[in-house]
Amino acid sequence: MRQHNKTLITAALPYANGQIHVGHLAGAYLPADIYHRYLVGKGEKSLFICGSDEYGIAITIKAEEAKRTPQQQVDHFHKINKKLFSRMGIDFSHYSRTSLPHHAERTQAIFKEHLRNGWIEKKTIHQLFSPAEGRFLADRYVVGTCPKCGYHEARGDECTKCGASFEATDLLNPVSKMTKKPLELKETEHYFFRFDLFKERLKKWLETKNFKPATMNFSRQYIEDLKPRCITRDLDWGVPLPIDGTKGKVLYVWYDAPIGYISATYDLQAECVNEYWLDPKTRYVQFVGKDNTTFHSVLFPAMIMGQDTPYKLVDDLVVNEFLNLKGEKFSKSSGNSLDLESMLRWISSDQLRFYLSLIAPEHQDCDFSFEDLIVRVNSELVGKLGNFIHRTLTFIQSKIGSVPKVGVLEVGDQEFLNQIEALLDTGAANYENFSIKKAVETLLEMAQLSNRYFDHQKPWSLVKDPLAKNRLETILAVCLKAVQALLAQMGPVVPVATKQAWGFLGHAVVPPRAQAMSIEVERLEPPLPLFQKLEPPVKDETMSEPTEACQLQTAKTTPMPDHHKELTPMIEFSDFEKVDLRVALVLECVAVPKSEKLLQFTLDVAGEKRVILSGVRQFVQDSAALVGKKVAIVANLKPRKMMGIESHGMILSVMEEGVFEMLSFSSAPSGGRIG
Ligand code: 2FM
Ligand code: ZN
Repeated sequence: MRQHNKTLITAALPYANGQIHVGHLAGAYLPADIYHRYLVGKGEKSLFICGSDEYGIAITIKAEEAKRTPQQQVDHFHKINKKLFSRMGIDFSHYSRTSLPHHAERTQAIFKEHLRNGWIEKKTIHQLFSPAEGRFLADRYVVGTCPKCGYHEARGDECTKCGASFEATDLLNPVSKMTKKPLELKETEHYFFRFDLFKERLKKWLETKNFKPATMNFSRQYIEDLKPRCITRDLDWGVPLPIDGTKGKVLYVWYDAPIGYISATYDLQAECVNEYWLDPKTRYVQFVGKDNTTFHSVLFPAMIMGQDTPYKLVDDLVVNEFLNLKGEKFSKSSGNSLDLESMLRWISSDQLRFYLSLIAPEHQDCDFSFEDLIVRVNSELVGKLGNFIHRTLTFIQSKIGSVPKVGVLEVGDQEFLNQIEALLDTGAANYENFSIKKAVETLLEMAQLSNRYFDHQKPWSLVKDPLAKNRLETILAVCLKAVQALLAQMGPVVPVATKQAWGFLGHAVVPPRAQAMSIEVERLEPPLPLFQKLEPPVKDETMSEPTEACQLQTAKTTPMPDHHKELTPMIEFSDFEKVDLRVALVLECVAVPKSEKLLQFTLDVAGEKRVILSGVRQFVQDSAALVGKKVAIVANLKPRKMMGIESHGMILSVMEEGVFEMLSFSSAPSGGRIG
């Protein structure tokens, strides 16, 4: 077992250049979040750091296409991604961003230390200069004739016709992609990090690690062939090179980005840097996708070794393979992608987290499939796990009405409990080994065993026998213990349902994992089903068929968000006056059984009680937290029946760009007219 008592977790900083998709989630953020939640659930200290990676040429190019400045581009996607993470329940201790000025200062300070320590050298190289624009152009800004096949529109880094890859300087007749004017070769100075000088130290260090075999092998090979790498670029978007007379040069995005892990921690609190980064007793775990391997297993460690502050080197590097879609990599530009925001209108974050954990690409690439998702959620999450918890709680509620008392345990009861406890230990080991796939498999095994126990004990026939009351209570008490064990194991994966279920057991706060089975259940609240079955969505006003609705259209530029679309036609003031907008106090907010979308609000409007249904279930993590809020409603909408319940009005909220917010008031009285 580990000797550390606190853990620093980082997940690869996603580029703020597009929306995160389920592939990103499955590869890095979800496993990191689950691990973090597992540690916190154990009562350990864990700091989970991430943020947007906001520099690099890809961002300037996409910004130009979208007619935004690079800063507008990253502001836009930083906000969207932060919200999407939050809607997926990714519980970062802090989500920062690399365009913050202090990140540039820290990166520059580290660069100066590297330079002073002799790890950086200046080289004169030839690069393509645009006299018309007065600057050197990076590869992606250059087009020309392919030296292999003669194609005229070859890119600066590769030919899209014959697939050859090369340096921009190899192109024949290179011109600027922007101005189409000719370019000339000119001498320029660039800075190279001498990774090669760290070869022996890195080799030794790597051999002390216990990364996955694929990561170890790949990194060993990479170290064998370590070369100096150019860490500067001719761009005006990035961390400026802190050397006089180098205007127009910035540090390469992969030099500044990993330093972002440290800056992000400073951004949270300088004390956290001391407590985590600078304490050798911290265990540092990084979660990344396989395309980021060498940056984390070789290059960033060398950068840390080469500067002066004793920041922690990574202890466990968790590299995951890719989650693919229809056998291909997720790629927004080729249309092979899923829009998370649309998906979350159809599926709850817990359901998606469950499925992504079950198919986690831990050792090989795997494929996301809607058909499989629906089957696994319905048969495993709802049919096994949700079913056992719900049948146990409803049975107790309807037949006993209070917490069942445990009497004499029979051998079978004890054996069952022993098996559950042993599986809970296995489940803990699965989390410790970063295998969320196995952790979920163990959870399902526990659920299956529990259902079998329930079926075997047939509590429904004991109910009929008044002399069997003690035995019935004992069986149900045993089932309740199993429910508690299941909640402990499922907590990190499906946190919303777990919190809700502990609420049914009278615990507003989720107890620590170690106490899950022993903690007393003092009262039982009326339970609701924890998970809903997924129907292949039919076209309706909120969501069309998933494979289409969740598929991002092939679009070169990001579509304008809804709020930039044209306003609806003008109305007369008298039209507006017809709408009765009121302040309403939320008395109760519960999910509508069997509905994916609807929450049922009971509201007070100036002393009058009314029920309003609102299709916001997917966006509300904790419906109980809305009780006591004062929201805005349309009070004079004609009643409408949904799922057999009449709704008297509409609650006002905003759902844009991944942001969900309800209009709310603090001092305005309930019933107050809004206008
Ligand atoms: O591949 C990526 O999405 C990169 N933005 C990851 C950076 S990880 C870290 F070094 F910041
Ligand atoms: Zn070619």
